[in-house]
Amino acid sequence: MSADRNISATSGVVAGTGARDAGDAAMQVRSVSKHYGGLEVLSDVDVTIDRGAFYGIVGPNGAGKTTLLNVISGVVKCDRGEVWVDDVDLTRLGPDRRVLHGVARTFQTVRLVPGRTVLDQVVFGAYDRMGGHTWRHLTGQRAAIRQMAEIRGDAEHLLEQLGMGGKLDAVAEMLPYGDQRRVEVARALMARPKVLLLDEPAAGMGPKEWMPLVEYLLDLTRNGLTVVLIEHNMKLVESACERVVVLDFGKVLAEGPPRECLRTKEVREAYFGTGKVSYGRRVVG
Ligand SMILES: Nc1ncnc2c1ncn2[C@@H]1O[C@H](COP(=O)(O)OP(=O)(O)O)[C@@H](O)[C@H]1O
Ligand SMILES: [Mg+2]
Repeated sequence: MSADRNISATSGVVAGTGARDAGDAAMQVRSVSKHYGGLEVLSDVDVTIDRGAFYGIVGPNGAGKTTLLNVISGVVKCDRGEVWVDDVDLTRLGPDRRVLHGVARTFQTVRLVPGRTVLDQVVFGAYDRMGGHTWRHLTGQRAAIRQMAEIRGDAEHLLEQLGMGGKLDAVAEMLPYGDQRRVEVARALMARPKVLLLDEPAAGMGPKEWMPLVEYLLDLTRNGLTVVLIEHNMKLVESACERVVVLDFGKVLAEGPPRECLRTKEVREAYFGTGKVSYGRRVVG
């Protein structure tokens, strides 16, 4: 484990796929390209991410970060290239099938079910791993009632771990933005992913909010979960990510440990324009 990952973890492990082997790839993005009209949004992108990594995707606004996450999760089909998770080629599968292969995600813009409680939102996350089963199919069956109780228990436990235990019955969209983002992370974890993709999970959070969230996620990586996050807060990236890929105009500008990647002249100029680096706050959209 990298010495960069210096945020101590305190929370319990609830997800993951087992112990970590060095050099064991959880996910590979192979020569992926994507066009929108005449615009090449991703250009021959190659990324290999080790199992149990806490991996950052960084780059200026419009660099293609969200598109890369969309291609990995299957929300968007790439024009060329492949996406592999655990030696399975997912390239031609839709997002629902990819969840069954262990890929879960959150979105840059919060997507909660209107009017439903925090607990409900997280319980819904379990549907994703049930391959389309709904409670309607199971109503009245004793096993279904037991399973529902287990799912509710898992959801409550996850929310407690994320500091949301006192807000289970709150209507999610009425909560502060940081709470809503934590609900979405809990919802994605209910799919029991091998690879968790997070699009700006700490946006709008101060250090008192993002540090416990990152500590919690780092703890899950120690049990084999692979976390891939898009992040603008360089303090978070440098303290938690063992490696990053820097995108610029859809191309990989650099890949490696953040302290090495983010300090190169090309990256600072591409990412920050002026070559100045701002830490601990959002500097680009
Ligand atoms: N569905 C789309 N149709 C057309 N252009 C898009 C679409 N999605 C993204 N883009 C364009 O692709 C580029 C990369 O977008 P995005 O991946 O969202 O960047 P980032 O997340 O790094 O800010 C931007 O120029 C954006 O306008
Ligand atoms: Mg984005």
